[in-house]
This record gives sequence, C-alpha cells and structure tokens, in this order.
Amino acid sequence: MDKTLKISKIKEGTVIDHIAAGKALKVLAILGVDESNSISIGIRVMSDKLAFKDVIKIENKFLEKIELDKIALIANEATISIIKNYEIIEKFNLDMPQTFKGIVKCGNQNCITNAGEPVKSEFKTVKTNPLTIKCIYCKKEMSDEEIINNV
Ligand SMILES: Nc1ncnc2c1ncn2[C@@H]1O[C@H](COP(=O)(O)OP(=O)(O)OP(=O)(O)O)[C@@H](O)[C@H]1O
Ligand SMILES: [Mg+2]
Ligand SMILES: [Zn+2]
Repeated sequence: MDKTLKISKIKEGTVIDHIAAGKALKVLAILGVDESNSISIGIRVMSDKLAFKDVIKIENKFLEKIELDKIALIANEATISIIKNYEIIEKFNLDMPQTFKGIVKCGNQNCITNAGEPVKSEFKTVKTNPLTIKCIYCKKEMSDEEIINNV
C-alpha cells in the first residue's frame, strides 16, 4: 500500500511554512481570501526543523503588508515563499514591526481607541519572545494569547 499522498503544487501564490503547530487556522482567519483562492492547510504535519508544524498554501494570493504584520503577531516564526509558475521566486522570514497601527484592538475597554472616537489603535513592541506590545494611549501591555485574540 502506498502510504503517501501528495497535494498539488500551486502555480501562482504563497506558501506560509513553519507556522507553530496549531496556529494555522488563526493565521487563515486574518487573511483576506475569496473564490479565486484554492487553499491547502496542514495542521501538525511533520517538519524537519520542529517536531510538528502547520503550513498554508494559497493559490493566487500575494500577501499585503498588513497581512504580513498580522502574521508576525500570530506566528512570527513563519517562512513566506512566493510562487510564480510553480517555482519559489522569493522567500523570507517575517520582521517584527516596531509599531502596529490599526491592527490590534486594545484589551482595555476604557482605552480612547475603544471609545468610538476616530482614534486608531497603536502599539509599540516592548519585547519579543514572548511578544509583548504596549498601547501608546493607555499604556496597557498585551502578550501572546491576548494579542492573538485581538488581531
Ligand atoms: N509550487 C509549489 N506549490 C506548493 N508549495 C510549494 C511549491 N514550491 C515550494 N513549495 C513549498 O514551499 C516551502 C518552501 O520550499 P523550499 O523548497 O524552500 O523548502 P525547504 O527546502 O523545505 O525549505 P525550509 O528550509 O524553509 O524548510 C515548502 O513547504 C515547499 O513544500
Ligand atoms: Mg522544509
Ligand atoms: Zn489602549
């Protein structure tokens, strides 16, 4: 019995690889996708580097800066490969931005950014590993799960 099953290569699109095991659905949730995007997701698949990893392959999808910043918040360890005509034409790791504007909802309900005023949320990165960010308005610090649940 053949015990392998291959998924098709994508012709044009993006591979988001080495996502920490179990985080792929959260990453997928922040990506804008539509009917032109065929998507394969691997959750807790074997990796050479980590024991297990998640991976997402999306046909006809090229990530925008805001999507890259959101992925950095959720899965900073991810590797992005851009595919054109079945080949990788560009591959990179994610930079951790020093500021996040309008991307994370402040966890403080009394923050000015949650008051219905036209003030966009803005956070500064305090440290990485574990990632901690700080609201420039109310100074609330957020990390890990709290960030992921508010992206
Ligand atoms: N045309 C394609 N369609 C779908 N996935 C692709 C395609 N080309 C490459 N990939 C995937 O993109 C990712 C990066 O490819 P690469 O060949 O650099 O892998 P690798 O040698 O395992 O690198 P790494 O050290 O990053 O794990 C892998 O998950 C690979 O399966
Ligand atoms: Mg690999
Ligand atoms: Zn705040």
